[in-house]
Amino acid sequence: MTAPVAITLRVNATSHTVTVAPDMPLLWVLREVLQLPGTRFGCGAALCGSCTVLLNGMATRSCVLPVSQVNERDIVTIEGVLASPAASVARAVQQAWSEGNVAQCGYCQSGQVLTAVALLRGTAVPNDNDIDRAFDGMLCRCGTAPRVRAAVHRAARLLSERVSGTDTAIPSANPSTSPPTTP
Ligand code: FES
Ligand code: FES
Repeated sequence: MTAPVAITLRVNATSHTVTVAPDMPLLWVLREVLQLPGTRFGCGAALCGSCTVLLNGMATRSCVLPVSQVNERDIVTIEGVLASPAASVARAVQQAWSEGNVAQCGYCQSGQVLTAVALLRGTAVPNDNDIDRAFDGMLCRCGTAPRVRAAVHRAARLLSERVSGTDTAIPSANPSTSPPTTP
């Protein structure tokens, strides 16, 4: 194993200096060192999406990203997204997920939610092809993909209604309805 070195990361708007092997995947730094278990381990090979975080706003699979390669980029996890620059989009996604009863066991949902947030920040009104591309390779053993797609459309409508002034009711963050974060 590579010798540990001190690495400073900015996670959910807070700087952390960790002493870890530079080739340790970001996923394990988040879960095991920083105690942020909302980012999930699924395959460990960039094949399922459960480990997705936002890296400078882009949906990124943390299981195959050596922590030494994160550099100065901002990391946002499911624990911090409602207090991040993506908060307004995240609140719309949260509402849409809740209305659509998207989550089943919940295991994959932090990755699904952050993928939706990244998509909607880049594409205000995604079509089905946009959604399929963004969620390509996101696996859900509970089969929630149709609900995820419907909820992304609903979140886009919530955001556009808010912009047009026809809906001001997207609620503030409510921890009781946040996506589940079982370790
Ligand atoms: S755990 Fe990273 S993609 Fe599956
Ligand atoms: S909700 Fe169970 S794995 Fe996706």
